[in-house]
Amino acid sequence: ADGPLVLGIETSCDETGVGIVRGRTLLVDAVASSVEEHARFGGVVPEVASRAHLEAMVPTLERAAEQAGIRLHEVDAVAVTSGPGLAGALLVGVAAAKALALGLGKPLYGVNHLAAHVAVDQLEHGPLPEPCLALLVSGGHSNLLRVEDLTTGVTPLGATIDDAAGEAFDKVARLLGLPFPGGPHVDREARSGNAVAIDFPRGLTSRRDLERHRFDYSFSGLKTAVARWVEARERAGEPVPVADVAASFQEAVCDVLVRKALDAAADQGVDDLLIGGGVAANSRLRAMAEERAAKVGVRVRVPRPGLCTDNGAMVAALGAEMVARGRTPSSLDLPADSSQPI
Ligand code: KG4
Ligand code: ZN
Repeated sequence: ADGPLVLGIETSCDETGVGIVRGRTLLVDAVASSVEEHARFGGVVPEVASRAHLEAMVPTLERAAEQAGIRLHEVDAVAVTSGPGLAGALLVGVAAAKALALGLGKPLYGVNHLAAHVAVDQLEHGPLPEPCLALLVSGGHSNLLRVEDLTTGVTPLGATIDDAAGEAFDKVARLLGLPFPGGPHVDREARSGNAVAIDFPRGLTSRRDLERHRFDYSFSGLKTAVARWVEARERAGEPVPVADVAASFQEAVCDVLVRKALDAAADQGVDDLLIGGGVAANSRLRAMAEERAAKVGVRVRVPRPGLCTDNGAMVAALGAEMVARGRTPSSLDLPADSSQPI
């Protein structure tokens, strides 16, 4: 394999990730997660995440270099997520990346977390067609993006106006008594459930909502509808059909995600749809997207689940693309920007 040897650092949420790539070839993807520490709080606690990053940073860096069989001074560039994300968590990665870049005398590239979720697919499926459409769905974001140029031209078309898709999965899982993070558990329960058992609402799909929010999402109404439905059952002293609720909820989320993504693809005249972020691991979302996209001639790309969730390889992948396209490196003053726009 050829191309620049790039090390990427990701610390925007609860995953301390260090990835190493050569061009579009993945060498190592080392991830240390603090998710277990957050589980008892039912969500990510920023202070806990920052401290965990601090503790995991150096060991994860060492493990990545060892697994790649390289010495750190061999890398051509250091890339890091500079935002968006949790401010304190981002700072740990940015500080580590600056120290490495300075110490090794190598260029530093601050990258956008959302663009990195898109770029990671190149490690698995090769060069991304540009323009393409990207649907990013995780615990922290739900975005529809037009990708004109991975390194400079990513345009937001729409986003959630309240909860992120993964957040909705996590909250509904909690209502159903399933562990955090709930997405994978809802996914598993749904397999034995009836997806048309309960007709849950599809957010922002009424004619009126579509006028202002054609490519936006809303999941908080859906979450409330599920809560009301479950409460009514409990009040009536009836058992909650967990699998049916999970399947019907999941169907409502996936239906809107896919419907709007394909509408955007048609609107933008693009034939390739990339789906990324933790929720892209959802089995129903993958199946539904492939089935409906095939009918309208859109190709769907979804990285394997391990690359969909936050990791360092995605940052390295975008960093390598920036090096390859001759983009200007960041200065050592690079700030961590928790609300960095795409
Ligand atoms: O990308 P990610 O690891 O971290 C964030 O940036 O948030 O995404 C985590 C989210 C969680 O909300 C989790 O419940 C959800 O992705 N998730 C899933 C599945 N696997 C993970 N949601 C639905 N179905 C899944 N199979
Ligand atoms: Zn993410």
